[in-house]
Amino acid sequence: MKRLFAIAAAALTVFSASAQTYPGSKPVSIVVPFAAGGPTDRVARDLALALAKYIPGGNFVVENAAGAGGTIGTNKVAKAAPDGHTLLLFHIGMAATPALYRRLPYKPLEDFEYLGMVNDVPMTLVGKPQLPANTYRDFENYIRANAGKINLAHAGLGSASHICGLLWQSALSTKEALTTIPFGGTGPAMTALIGGQVDVMCDQTTNTTSQIEGGRVKAFAVTTAKPMSGHKLLKDYPTLQEMGLKNFNLTIWHGLYAPKGTPAPILKTLNEGLKKALKDADFIKKNEGLGAVVVTDKRVEPEEHKKFVAAEIIKLKAAVDAAKQYAD
Ligand code: MLT
Repeated sequence: MKRLFAIAAAALTVFSASAQTYPGSKPVSIVVPFAAGGPTDRVARDLALALAKYIPGGNFVVENAAGAGGTIGTNKVAKAAPDGHTLLLFHIGMAATPALYRRLPYKPLEDFEYLGMVNDVPMTLVGKPQLPANTYRDFENYIRANAGKINLAHAGLGSASHICGLLWQSALSTKEALTTIPFGGTGPAMTALIGGQVDVMCDQTTNTTSQIEGGRVKAFAVTTAKPMSGHKLLKDYPTLQEMGLKNFNLTIWHGLYAPKGTPAPILKTLNEGLKKALKDADFIKKNEGLGAVVVTDKRVEPEEHKKFVAAEIIKLKAAVDAAKQYAD
């Protein structure tokens, strides 16, 4: 028995020692559960740079683990060693997937440590350059007249682009449903849209702004409750509410997570580093340029982050149950 205590004490000493010297020389992976080149990947890469400024010795690297609307990468982090070297950046999908996937291999509120929220990203309805419409009205009329022949790209069931497509279609209630085409992320979906292989998509401004600016895709509306009057480009597009879709309001929030059981000193270091990163002028400028808003309210606190996600899980379950569309 004495020997057992000695071993446990030794392990604890090593563990707390590593917590004290965190992050040490080993890189810290930020897992993005979508393909490279998309909006979540973009936020993660900007965040990795900012975190490295405020967590001494931190070498934050982005690791893409795409598939199943973000649940594959998320499960990878749920099962990872709780040593602070594997983190997850995930969005509204953290709250939507429990409703869509009735057999999810992890529990969003039990298998993760919540590190704080990062930003809120509006979405835009965009179309391929050849689409015969230039205003939202023309676009909606075209969709209504050709719904059965039009396809909508998204990043997998439970992804932000899927949720937006689902909510928009149920608000439109077209006679026929659009054909949905899943990708590993809206990075590759955007390439297909620019190439005209797919027709329409609802995607985050962090991925659409530069393509709209470059004239490579057409934009028709934003999903925010209020017009984006502060943004040099997106101010020119109506909200879906202004176009008659009552109460339509969707922004994509992103949060940072660690595996359950990650030591408290490491969680403290990460949360404090995150708070400083969220005040970093360069990080804020990058987000604002792409229409995103960095979180400044109480949601930067882990317990408030968790409360927020718990409320979103309930809200999105109601929307998914209403649409009766499940992934399994
Ligand atoms: C991505 O990074 O590809 C997106 O966040 C996917 C999505 O949820 O639409």
